[in-house]
Amino acid sequence: MEVFDSPDSAREYVGSFRSRGQTVGFVPTMGALHEGHLSLVHSARSCDVAVASIFVNPTQFGPTEDLEKYPRTLDADLEKLRTAGVSAVFVPTKEQMYPDGFSTWVESPRIGETLEGICRPGHFRGVATVVLKLFQALPATHAYFGKKDYQQWRVIEAMARDLNVGTEIIGCETVREADGLALSSRNRYLSENDRERALLLSAALNQVEKSYVSGEARTEILQIQMRELLLGQQPTATNTLSDASGTVPRLDTLDYATIVSAEDLTPLTSIDRPVVALIAGSIGTTRLIDNRELQRI
Ligand code: PAF
Repeated sequence: MEVFDSPDSAREYVGSFRSRGQTVGFVPTMGALHEGHLSLVHSARSCDVAVASIFVNPTQFGPTEDLEKYPRTLDADLEKLRTAGVSAVFVPTKEQMYPDGFSTWVESPRIGETLEGICRPGHFRGVATVVLKLFQALPATHAYFGKKDYQQWRVIEAMARDLNVGTEIIGCETVREADGLALSSRNRYLSENDRERALLLSAALNQVEKSYVSGEARTEILQIQMRELLLGQQPTATNTLSDASGTVPRLDTLDYATIVSAEDLTPLTSIDRPVVALIAGSIGTTRLIDNRELQRI
């Protein structure tokens, strides 16, 4: 497996396949790789060649967020990518991505202005900028993003379309632990007790899906149900996550629990098109997000 740190050598490598008419599948990451990332690599391997990048992008972290603390596990990550069948990895330094004098930004498309865009001002500007820069270094035919970061996937789709990037953006299903917890590099911050509470997110999504499948289509009602479960306001008897002492778990903060159009993330009164339920909240200092595309089976 080749490891490049300069954008020019990465571009030359990808170009050598593209000039022969071959497809190149790209998985951008910030490292701290888990099975979720490896499932993206698995999808990328349907192309003639799979490439990846590892770069903890400072411009997508807010001033009070966990940039310094973000897990950095480069050697283990490279080994995982090698074993998963990646042919080349781009691992730039901060100076290569943001040299002195850097001053050109990609503003977030409109779809990034709600939800995470409100909770994390500037986040999608940093994401859109770095992803466009990564696409310049690795001009792949296809790029793979996890739907766990649902809004991010939609932001990148819109950015690639609006700026004629020419790389097909593919959203891939979230990978979960057996008990439903969505895989995330940030899960490693959770204590055993906090990890139990983190299950509230998938439990709320299961519950909302069940209500929807049973016929409830009013988003206000479905959102109230999610919020009550996430904030420990449901009666203990109906809360399967309560412990033997009857303590009902709750998130420490809930940023949103909402149901919006899956296509453009706009709010709806009643479900009359494909929708996604999205949740963001914190347990201690760890911020967690999760979502579910609701289907009436
Ligand atoms: O999802 C991530 O890991 C990052 O936001 C991405 C897309 C690699 C951009 O830094």
